[in-house]
Amino acid sequence: MSILFKPTVINGMQLKNRFVRSATHEAMADLDGTVKDQLLQYMLDLVRGEVGLIITGHAHVLREGQAGPRQMGAYSDAMIDGLKRVCSVIHENGGVVAIQLAHAGIRGIGKKEYAALGPSNLSKEGLKVATAMTAEDIQRTVKAFGDAAERSVAAGFDAIQIHSAHGYLLSQFLSPYYNKRADVYGGILENRARFLLEVYTEIRGRVGRSFPLMVKINSEDFLEGGFTAEEMVKVACMLEEQGMDAIEMSGGTFESGRLVPSRMGTFKSEKKEVYYRKAAEAFKREVKIPLILVGGFLSFNLAEEMVTSGQADYVALSRPLIREPHLVKRWADGDKAKATCISCNKCFSTLLMEEALHCPIDKESK
Ligand SMILES: Cc1cc2nc3c(=O)[nH]c(=O)nc-3n(C[C@H](O)[C@H](O)[C@H](O)COP(=O)(O)O)c2cc1C
Repeated sequence: MSILFKPTVINGMQLKNRFVRSATHEAMADLDGTVKDQLLQYMLDLVRGEVGLIITGHAHVLREGQAGPRQMGAYSDAMIDGLKRVCSVIHENGGVVAIQLAHAGIRGIGKKEYAALGPSNLSKEGLKVATAMTAEDIQRTVKAFGDAAERSVAAGFDAIQIHSAHGYLLSQFLSPYYNKRADVYGGILENRARFLLEVYTEIRGRVGRSFPLMVKINSEDFLEGGFTAEEMVKVACMLEEQGMDAIEMSGGTFESGRLVPSRMGTFKSEKKEVYYRKAAEAFKREVKIPLILVGGFLSFNLAEEMVTSGQADYVALSRPLIREPHLVKRWADGDKAKATCISCNKCFSTLLMEEALHCPIDKESK
C-alpha cells in the first residue's frame, strides 16, 4: 500500500491517509457568517471523497476580521450551532475536521462599518485604507482567537488551524513589508512573531495540551522587503518549541504578482507542481513536527515522492478538490491519473461574483 494511504496520528488525532483538504473559502454562509445547508452538502461530498483531514475555509474571529462575503464566522456564540452541524456531517461519515481561524487585517471587507486594522497605517492615493492596531486592539484580537477556539471545541472540531499565511493579519505582522511598527510587535523577527505566538499561547491555554493545534504560514512572501524563507524556518522553530503540533506551509500574498498562493498554470508540467519544494527542504532540515505541504500538487506520483522521501509529511490540496471532491478516493481506488484541475483560478471568480465556491470549468463541461 502506498505510504499516502497509511494511517498516522497528530497529537492524538487519527488520520486515515496523508491527504489534507487545505482551507478553502466556500462562501456558503449567511451574510452574518452562520453556516448554511449548502456548506453541509459540500462537506458531505468532501468526506465521501475520503480526504484524511478536512480544513474548513477561514472563519473570522471578529467581525472586523472578515475577508469575504458569506464567509463562515466563529466570532460569536450564535455561530456554534451551525459549526456543530459541519462537524456532525463529517463525523457521521467517518471524517476528521479542523477549523481554520482567521482575521483578515488590512484585507477586512467591512471597511464602512468597521475600520480595517493592520500592523501599520496604510494609504493608497491619499486614501487611508488601514489603521495601525493599538496594543489594546492586539490584546482584544488575541482574546477573540481564544474565544473562537473555545467555540470550535464546543462545536466538536477535531483540531484548529491558525491562519498566519497569505498576507492576512498574522502574516502581515510577520512581514516587514506590511509591518512598520516601532513597538514590541515590529522590527526584529522575535517582535514580528510575537502576535502569532500570543495567539498560539492563548488558544493552547483554552483548549489544553492534548488538543491538536496547527498553523498555516508562508514559506516566504515573494515581496521585496517581505518575510523570507530563512525567517520562516526560525518562526517554525519558535512554534515547535512552544508546542505547535503541525505546520502547513504555503506562500505569497495578494501583492506577490505571479507568485500568489494559488499559482496558475501548474498543470502544464510536473516541474511547475509542488512549488514550495525548496522551502520544504529548508524546513525539514531544522524542524521535527509534521509538515503539511500545499501548493500546486496535481500528480499522485509527486505527492507520493514527497512523502516517501521525507520532504513532507502530508499533502494538502485546495483547487484540485474544488473540481474533484472525490480525487483522493479515485486515487485510493487505483485510478492514479493526474487531477483534472487546470489551475486556472476561475474558482476565485465565482467568489468575486459572490456565488458559492465551485469550478466553472467543470460545470461547463457537464
Ligand atoms: C477559492 C480559494 C479559496 C481559498 N481560501 C483559503 C482559505 O480560506 N484559507 C487559506 O489558508 N487558504 C485559502 N486558499 C489557498 C489554498 O488553501 C492553497 O493554499 C492554494 O490554493 C494552493 O494550493 P492548490 O494548488 O492545491 O490550490 C484558497 C484558495 C482558493 C483557490
